Amino acid sequence: MQAITLPSYGGPEVLTLTELDDPVPGPGEVLLDVAATAVNRADLLQRQGFYAPPPGAPAHPGLECSGTVAELGEGVAGWEVGDQVCALLTGGGYATKVAVPAGQLLPVPAGVSLVEAAALPEVACTVWSNVFMRADLQPGEVFLVHGGSSGIGTMAVQLANHLGARVFATVGSPAKAERVVALGAERAVLYRSEDFVEVVRAEGGADVVLDVIGAKYLARNVEVLADGGRLVVIGLQGGAKAELDLGALLAKRGSVHATALRSRSASSKAQIVQAVLAGVWPLLETGEVRPVVDRVLPLAQAGEAHRVVEESGHVGKVVLQVA
Ligand SMILES: NC(=O)c1ccc[n+]([C@@H]2O[C@H](COP(=O)([O-])OP(=O)(O)OC[C@H]3O[C@@H](n4cnc5c(N)ncnc54)[C@H](OP(=O)(O)O)[C@@H]3O)[C@@H](O)[C@H]2O)c1
Repeated sequence: MQAITLPSYGGPEVLTLTELDDPVPGPGEVLLDVAATAVNRADLLQRQGFYAPPPGAPAHPGLECSGTVAELGEGVAGWEVGDQVCALLTGGGYATKVAVPAGQLLPVPAGVSLVEAAALPEVACTVWSNVFMRADLQPGEVFLVHGGSSGIGTMAVQLANHLGARVFATVGSPAKAERVVALGAERAVLYRSEDFVEVVRAEGGADVVLDVIGAKYLARNVEVLADGGRLVVIGLQGGAKAELDLGALLAKRGSVHATALRSRSASSKAQIVQAVLAGVWPLLETGEVRPVVDRVLPLAQAGEAHRVVEESGHVGKVVLQVA
């Protein structure tokens, strides 16, 4: 098979199209002919040498893909050769073939193309598991998501809006503000010129915050929480270590969570995938929630795709077409 590998760590230029042996599906796994994969910010960190794949994962990047089932490993039930699917991966999506535990497969939702479906697994599983399963966002509650125009943000805004929350989203530019409002945010906050604490506190504070910045925003994220508010940190773009004012947190009976999807066990990922199938897939099939695809580039242009994401020149997902 062909894959984009990392012969060394560094800039986008290190991503190299390489011939590798085909993966063999183990017991409980399925081999996919990959149609498309998508770029995640974590892939940029992996490329730079800051995010090693978990033990047992392929060394080449790619946390999600869409494709066609080519072969069933021992004991796989419920899927047939030829099924069109998308999949949450622990790595290896930047390739023409990948083996994946069957529990991490999802059908391509009706009305979504096979290529677009590659943009769904990582954002749907991350947002659903954190905002709804972990933080238990309820209709009528105030939800603040940082990076509202990101892959994660565009899914979070749509899901929270369709499930009845009031959505606030931070963004880096007026053009991105327009996009997140069109996706369902009540108000976009320009993080370079506006204070999200002031804006959201004026609405009573945030019941749930989905944070991708980490240390740099910790104090202000606690400050913006409403009584009983839940802060979920999933990204550390602003660093990993900061001081937490427990006094401020306990006064409002708040909670802070920090989670990673990639390092979860296959059975934990399978549970999330089942919950996503029940909670998110119906909204995709009615068209109420859509994959937001900024652009589709061929796999061989993975370097260019990384440059776009690195410069935040995108809204939603950058997809790499494989087949
Ligand atoms: N823990 C997990 O399981 C998990 C899973 C998936 C993703 N993530 C994390 O989620 C984040 C988003 O991932 P992605 O792939 O969707 O990335 P992405 O599309 O590259 O988005 C990055 C976002 O960060 C925003 N941002 C940068 N600086 C900011 C600031 N000071 N304040 C507010 N927003 C800021 C950018 O906003 P502008 O473009 O508007 O400047 C952009 O929307 C990443 O940090 C990623 O590591 C975590």
